[in-house]
Amino acid sequence: MFLVTGATGGLGRRIVRLLREREQAVRAFVRLTSRYAELEQRGADIVIGDLERERDLQKATRGIQYVISTHGSNEANDGSAQAIDYQANIDLIDYAKDAGVEHFVFVSVLGADRGYEDAPVFKAKYAVERYLQTSGLPYTILRPSGFASNLLPLAERFRQTGTYLLIGDPKNRSSIVSTDDLAQIAVDAVTVAGARNQILPVGGPQILHREDVASIFGRVFNREPFLINAPMGAIDVVRNAVGLFNPQSREALGTLRTLLANEFFCTPAETDRLESMFEMKLESLESFIRRYLSV
Ligand SMILES: NC(=O)c1ccc[n+]([C@@H]2O[C@H](COP(=O)([O-])OP(=O)(O)OC[C@H]3O[C@@H](n4cnc5c(N)ncnc54)[C@H](OP(=O)(O)O)[C@@H]3O)[C@@H](O)[C@H]2O)c1
Repeated sequence: MFLVTGATGGLGRRIVRLLREREQAVRAFVRLTSRYAELEQRGADIVIGDLERERDLQKATRGIQYVISTHGSNEANDGSAQAIDYQANIDLIDYAKDAGVEHFVFVSVLGADRGYEDAPVFKAKYAVERYLQTSGLPYTILRPSGFASNLLPLAERFRQTGTYLLIGDPKNRSSIVSTDDLAQIAVDAVTVAGARNQILPVGGPQILHREDVASIFGRVFNREPFLINAPMGAIDVVRNAVGLFNPQSREALGTLRTLLANEFFCTPAETDRLESMFEMKLESLESFIRRYLSV
């Protein structure tokens, strides 16, 4: 049986769906307050808990063969990088080891190893990567770039208004990955021999400038894009104002700033390696948007 943490998230949900489509047994770790009815309907075994409670993790790992860790802290779920991205993964690795888990898949982030000082999520992910590598558990560490599914609400807004808001340098490059491709890679990582004990950067098939996203939306919706380009300073202003009242949000905005200020893309050699290792063709952002928004 698989255990998926972050099962109600953008990626985790897709992993549970895929496992159920393949008729694999899966336990979905969810919070009582999460929207998990769909996962239950698909036949996932629901375990309710909080990643900040060790005994919940201990219970969830009993009888598990494979773990896929996809949970993460963000502004919306009010978690801290230290508690959720770091400590919950360390505890999960320890209990997975106790339970005799055969393979642990950890979803990290592209650039985790670049030593960004002001990005608590990146720091936490890198520390977890190192812990997992020396844990003795067979593992696969995935380092994805930005998810295509994050852009769906922006595409929907573009469809209605024709505008696209871009903060920072429009020439910054990224290789946005289809969240469905990433889900497939996460699931297959436990059986594909070449993925064992590897760190794999995961990106889409194209290296895009951030401004290209507006052009793609323009093509998909047959509409001239109106690009609003705000400077990086805008984030700093918000961050300093928010930080006066809420230090945790200030911390989270540091990670967001790092994401907006830097480039996150995979080289063609890295994507070729992924495609041949997992015997798949990576999907473009344009195809992903068309498929989800039925255009
Ligand atoms: N999104 C990206 O572009 C991107 C890029 C690179 C790497 N990543 C990494 O990929 C992973 C998946 O990202 P995502 O966008 O799918 O995440 P997401 O949609 O933000 O989902 C986060 C998940 O973690 C769960 N969670 C948070 N705190 C919890 C707690 N205390 N107890 C139990 N569950 C908790 C959330 O549950 P609730 O539903 O209850 O809130 C949710 O299921 C994350 O590790 C992220 O850092 C994301």
